[in-house]
Amino acid sequence: MSLFDAAFDPTREAAVVTGAGNGIGRAIAQALVGEGVRTVFADLHEDRVSAAIKAATRPELAVPWVGDLARREGCDALLAHAQGAVGRVTHFAHSASPPRREADHAMAVDDETWRQMHAVNLDAGFHLSRELARKLIAARSPGSFLLLTSLHAGTPRNLPHYSTAKAGMAMLVKELAKSWGRYGIRVNALVPGAIAAGGFVADPALARHIPLGRLGQAEDLAPMALAVLSNKISGYVTGASIVVDGGLSLTNWFAPPELE
Ligand SMILES: NC(=O)c1ccc[n+]([C@@H]2O[C@H](COP(=O)([O-])OP(=O)(O)OC[C@H]3O[C@@H](n4cnc5c(N)ncnc54)[C@H](O)[C@@H]3O)[C@@H](O)[C@H]2O)c1
Repeated sequence: MSLFDAAFDPTREAAVVTGAGNGIGRAIAQALVGEGVRTVFADLHEDRVSAAIKAATRPELAVPWVGDLARREGCDALLAHAQGAVGRVTHFAHSASPPRREADHAMAVDDETWRQMHAVNLDAGFHLSRELARKLIAARSPGSFLLLTSLHAGTPRNLPHYSTAKAGMAMLVKELAKSWGRYGIRVNALVPGAIAAGGFVADPALARHIPLGRLGQAEDLAPMALAVLSNKISGYVTGASIVVDGGLSLTNWFAPPELE
């Protein structure tokens, strides 16, 4: 049997995807149910969750959850709901993130916007990962977690609340991967480039800075997300940051050579 025919074991594996109502999280959650994996679609907006599930190839495998992951009670409610609905959660993708607004630069961003960005990305990412890992360790089950970071974990974005939250997540991935490797729990980062997926309002002119010549789509991320989540395909990959950016991060002050 081909490796790619059985990337997951739906009899033993189930997933939670945050931010599953839109963009990259939605594409990952839809791809997981497409592989036969029971998946909790978690998001702040009920209408987005319903639409994402309705558009999935196997909606019967999708479980909706609507709540606010900026709050600890919201995170705990998601964990309880997931356990009741799908049992042991072996796979976790954390894609939820508040909107980025260009107006929130260093001199303008207010305390609440700063707090929300860190709460959803970093605090919820840590709390959900740790609680899911506790259950997996107790059950002696392997697991695979994927946190959506950003190229702006390492380079400024003019949005300090966003870049610092992503930089924190990038280190969190390394900390957790190192701590939990002995239990067979892998933790990796998926690093999107410029993805015209909802959360990023892309200027099409940006395409000229991208070696592959176009902005990304959420669907460009989902296959790699599944490959990294899969214990069969990526069973020896942990603590890694997998960049999916069409080559955007290669751009610098040297233009590519003239070849014709
Ligand atoms: N789109 C890009 O170009 C890009 C680039 C780099 C990194 N990323 C990262 O990838 C992830 C997904 O990006 P996207 O553009 O698909 O995002 P998006 O804005 O389209 O979707 C994010 C989802 O998170 C949900 N959400 C926000 N706050 C929440 C909360 N408090 N509780 C629960 N859900 C909440 C939103 O409702 C939304 O559906 C994010 O972490 C983002 O930072 C995206």
